[in-house]
Amino acid sequence: PLADLDRICDMQEGRMAGKIFWDSEIYEQELEKIFARCWLFVAHESQIPEPGDYVATTLGEDEVLVVRQKDRSIKVLINACPHRGNKVCFAEAGNARGFICNYHGWAFGPDGALRGMHESGVYEQSGFDKSRQGLREARVDSYKGLVFATFAADAPSLADYLGPMTWYLDVILDNDEGGTEFIGGCIRSTYECNWKIAAENFVGDILHAGWTHDSAAQAMLGGSVTKVSELPESYQVNWNGHGYEFARDLVGNAAVLGESAINKYLHLHSPKAAERLGEFRARMLGAVSSFTVFPNFSFLPGQNTVRVWQPRGPNKIELYTWVIVNRNAPAEVKEKWRRGAMMTFSPTGVFEMDDGENWEYCTKTSRGKVTRYQDLYVGLGMNSRLSDTELPGNVFRGQLNEANARAYYQRWKDLLQARTWAEVPDRNGKLD
Ligand code: FES
Ligand code: FE
Repeated sequence: PLADLDRICDMQEGRMAGKIFWDSEIYEQELEKIFARCWLFVAHESQIPEPGDYVATTLGEDEVLVVRQKDRSIKVLINACPHRGNKVCFAEAGNARGFICNYHGWAFGPDGALRGMHESGVYEQSGFDKSRQGLREARVDSYKGLVFATFAADAPSLADYLGPMTWYLDVILDNDEGGTEFIGGCIRSTYECNWKIAAENFVGDILHAGWTHDSAAQAMLGGSVTKVSELPESYQVNWNGHGYEFARDLVGNAAVLGESAINKYLHLHSPKAAERLGEFRARMLGAVSSFTVFPNFSFLPGQNTVRVWQPRGPNKIELYTWVIVNRNAPAEVKEKWRRGAMMTFSPTGVFEMDDGENWEYCTKTSRGKVTRYQDLYVGLGMNSRLSDTELPGNVFRGQLNEANARAYYQRWKDLLQARTWAEVPDRNGKLD
C-alpha cells in the first residue's frame, strides 16, 4: 500500500511530501509498524507511588492502564475486557483494588488476572479457564523514573532502544536532587495536526522559535530574545530517530519564563551537576534545547514541559502535557515552573498557540491533490556532521539544522518498510 514511500520521503535528498501528514493508509501502517512496535512513554513513576495507583494512557490508539503492583513493580495492561472488549476503567487516574467490567461483571486484579465473574457457575460448566482470560500485558521497562511500554515481543530492550541518547537525557533525569517528579495533573488537549509535525518540531526545529514565537517571547520578557545563530555553541544529536538539539547557554530556555528564582536555582545547581555529569552537560540544564524520543515523546528543558503527541487519526492528535521538576527543589521553584509551563506550553500557553496553528496548517494544506506531492525541503545542514567529537550519538554542528529531522523521518520510513525489528536497518554513522 505504500508503494510511493520513496517519492514522498527521501532523506538522502532532504525532501518529503505532505502526503505523510494526511494519508489514512499511511496512518494505519504507522499504528501497526510504529506504535504497536516501539517503546512508548506511558508514565513517570512519581505518578503512581503506591500499590494500586494507576494512570490511563494509550499506546498509539490502544488504551492501557499503568498500574503499580504490590511488589512495587509496574504493569501496563490493555484497558479492554477479553470478553467483548468493553473498556474496564473509565477514570484517567486513581487507586484501585482491581477493575470490574461494566458489561458482564468480569473482575480483574491490579495485576490484570481475572479474579471472578458475575454468574460464575455458568462458566465452570463450559470448561472455562480463568487463568487464560486476564487483561493483556505489555512489556514494561523504565529509565530513571520514565516508564515505557511496548507490545512487540521482538523489540530490542529499552536500553538498546534509547542507546547513547540516555547520556543526554541524564541532563534532566540524573540529578542530586532526588531525581525528578511530575507535579500537577496531566493536561489533555487536541489539535488538528499530524503527530509527526509536532514530534519533529521538538526533535530539532529551533529554527521556528525566533520567528514563530517572537512576539510572545517579547511580550513575556519585555524585549527581544537572543538569536539562536548568535548562541556560542550548539548541536543537534540523533540516534535511531531520537533527537536532541541544544546550546550550552545554561538558562536560555528557562530565561524566557522571566522567573529569577528558576534562573538562580539553575545557576546554583550547575556546579553540582558538573561534579556529577561533567562540565559539558552542566551547561545544558535549562539551555535552549528540546528533544524527542522516537516516535512521540518530547521534552523541553528549562521550561520543563513534557509531552506525548498521541495519534488520533492522520490529522488529529491528543496532546498529553505534564510538568517535570527536580524532586527536592524548593516548593517555590517547583511552583514557578508549574506556572511557567502553563503560561508557555499548555492550551492557554502563548507558545503553544503559535505552534498549534502552524502545525494544523502544515497538515491541512496536504489535503490537496497537488500539495500532497509538493516537495518539502528538509535539507538544512547537509554535510554538517562532526567526526572529531567525543559526544555520543550522531553529532551535527549547530542547532539551526535539519539533521535531526532527517534522521527522524528516515527512522519513520525504515520502520514502515520493515516487517520485523530484525529488518530495521542501522543507519547510525551513515546518514548525511
Ligand atoms: Fe467485559 Fe463482558 S465485555 S464482561
Ligand atoms: Fe514552538
